Amino acid sequence: MSSKVQKIVICGGGNGAHVLASILSSRENTETNVLTLYQDEAEIWNKAMENGMLYCLLPNESEIRSRPNKISKNPADVVPGANIILITVPAFSHEEYLRAIEPYIRYRTIIVGFPGLPGFEFQARHILKAKSQFVSVLSATTFPWACRIVEYGRNVKIIGVKNYVDVAVIQDSSKGAFNPLELLQSVLGSPPVFNKTNHFLEHSLMFAVVHPGLMYGRWKYWDGIPLSEKPLFYQGTDDFQAKCVTDLDDEVQGIAKEISKRTGVDFRGCLPMHTWLVKSYGSAISNPCSLKTALVTNKAYEGMVHPMKEVKGGYVPDFKHRYLSEDVPFGLVVVKGLAKIVGLKTPVIDELIRWGQQKLGKVFIEGTELTGGHLFETRAPQVYGITSLKDLRAMMGL
Ligand code: NAI
Repeated sequence: MSSKVQKIVICGGGNGAHVLASILSSRENTETNVLTLYQDEAEIWNKAMENGMLYCLLPNESEIRSRPNKISKNPADVVPGANIILITVPAFSHEEYLRAIEPYIRYRTIIVGFPGLPGFEFQARHILKAKSQFVSVLSATTFPWACRIVEYGRNVKIIGVKNYVDVAVIQDSSKGAFNPLELLQSVLGSPPVFNKTNHFLEHSLMFAVVHPGLMYGRWKYWDGIPLSEKPLFYQGTDDFQAKCVTDLDDEVQGIAKEISKRTGVDFRGCLPMHTWLVKSYGSAISNPCSLKTALVTNKAYEGMVHPMKEVKGGYVPDFKHRYLSEDVPFGLVVVKGLAKIVGLKTPVIDELIRWGQQKLGKVFIEGTELTGGHLFETRAPQVYGITSLKDLRAMMGL
């Protein structure tokens, strides 16, 4: 890493923010601040740090001991001067953080959605307006560390680390003068190794299908009777669920092909979900022959269950879990918006959005149209005035 001090701000106060605060504060040549806007988290975290360090337990039982430089609820205390800003909160809070940091953004800042999820780039560039010309916006497909807070502000535990994480990069207008992903890699170290993808639209399309598809397939015809145990999420996939995911995926592939045909943009990185699973998980999958078997026999998914709430008589599905509350407004609705731009019909996506929005108590689409009263809570491109291929190309700098 260069000897220049990297001024880093972590946005968030949850599990992920604790891990990033721990790792980055332990690096030489970094000054790591935390911005947490949520309730009294900053106060609690500061109190926890009064007489001690932040401990992070790694999977090999070794420990990182470090201290972030400053933790605050007030952006003016922690953001000015930052050149790397990592946003690690659920997608519905991204807007609040982007608005809070915007006044302090300076030339060549790197903003990372960690993870970003579909539509992050639309939202970031919309909020940053003219400033988006001189910042780089990066969006990771996932958070690399599976982790849990043990004691707030004091102890966090890393359960596992992903070896590779795909990141989409919209580079600032200095194109080529510096490499934002290389800088991110140098401050965080590896693993994970960050892979730069072709462009952000590939992710926006690809990663919205599995969670909603499995939720719909499992619960669409549920009789409402509580279950005695929580069903396996991925490894419990049946034929109907696999068909739901495949049908969604086919529509997504159709959208990618159409945008590619009409713009010349390369979508070869937008892999069908079955191909992506086999490529990403390799030997962890013992039977890769179909989407269903790739889900059911993936060792990495062992023990993962459906999000459920305990009630009298057993368990019922938690429809407010992020598999719907994030993956519909910050997933399927974004995909639907992209399909609209190229004039494609999406009967399967529409059906899943209608089912999901009803479970969430929202209206994003009416029939097949993006006219629901809660559309503005989503990141469909139309929310940001992107309604044509021309707008999309301009936004992507193509
Ligand atoms: P978390 O559930 O610990 O995050 C909660 C934090 O988000 C809160 O502490 C608060 O700072 C903020 N927050 C929550 N509700 C808010 C609200 N209404 N207004 C403002 N701020 C609010 O999340 P975690 O675990 O840190 O994950 C962050 C992101 O990374 C999520 O999108 C999650 O899906 C993703 N992720 C996390 C993994 C993990 O192992 N922790 C693994 C893979 C992905």
